[in-house]
Amino acid sequence: MGRIKISAKNVEKHFNPGTPEEVKAIEDITLDVMEGEFVSLLGPSGCGKSTFLFMVGGFEKATAGSLTLNDVPIEGPGANRGIVFQEYLLFPWQVVSKNIAYGLRIAGVPKAEQDRRVAELISMIGLQGFENAYPESLSGGMKQRVAIARALAYDPEILLMDEPFGALDAQTRGRMINDLTRIHQSTHKTTLFVTHSVEEAILLSDRVALFSARPARIKNVFEIDLPHPRSVTDEKFVHYERLILDSLEEEVTKTITANAVPAENL
Ligand SMILES: Nc1ncnc2c1ncn2[C@@H]1O[C@H](COP(=O)(O)OP(=O)(O)OP(=O)(O)O)[C@@H](O)[C@H]1O
Ligand SMILES: [Mg+2]
Repeated sequence: MGRIKISAKNVEKHFNPGTPEEVKAIEDITLDVMEGEFVSLLGPSGCGKSTFLFMVGGFEKATAGSLTLNDVPIEGPGANRGIVFQEYLLFPWQVVSKNIAYGLRIAGVPKAEQDRRVAELISMIGLQGFENAYPESLSGGMKQRVAIARALAYDPEILLMDEPFGALDAQTRGRMINDLTRIHQSTHKTTLFVTHSVEEAILLSDRVALFSARPARIKNVFEIDLPHPRSVTDEKFVHYERLILDSLEEEVTKTITANAVPAENL
């Protein structure tokens, strides 16, 4: 660590600016993510977390402010960023190994190197024996492992994850959190991880950035000073959980109040 990987300075995002449909999604996000760091983004629904992640991914442009990767302004998507979404965006017509190799094939990586890399990733995600399985025959957790492997295949500099475990059952999610912790510890990939789960954020992150209600600002950044593996029953864990939940609760209440239908309109 020590080097700034992603830097957001006074980033603002308005959709459809200057029109009646204008949506002020992000007001002012200033956040530096260090090389190798795992940072979670938490905040009320609709506050702009995905929007921020998409801007780092290069799929959306900021309305104002600066957003850089390695000190270079982010102008568009690139292979140096691996992305994992909540829905498993796998190609249903391709087997697991082909899904994982996708980016490598596009990049023209020689077949032998592709095979070596895929075998390494399959073992990292613990899916040995499923190389030739089609996505439809896999469980949700397995599909999401394949999606993570695919995002890592091209050896991106950063990993962007938008609620990757949101669709999984509690038990599978627990296992995926352990796996992702292990993967992060072995790859030291700089990671931005959007979640709704305070528990997930504390279990995984070096820091948790809490977004305010829309239009988003950074409300608090919590540094999680706990060794891995982490336990939800640890006294310090419970302390962080209370702090973050209280702060999040305030923003959720603001969101609900702002969206409430006035009594006279009911
Ligand atoms: N393409 C778009 N055009 C107009 N408004 C948009 C667009 N994309 C997002 N928004 C609006 O921007 C705001 C932030 O949306 P965003 O999806 O980033 O929130 P979020 O924090 O990821 O929410 P959730 O936790 O529910 O996933 C919302 O009000 C949303 O309706
Ligand atoms: Mg979202």
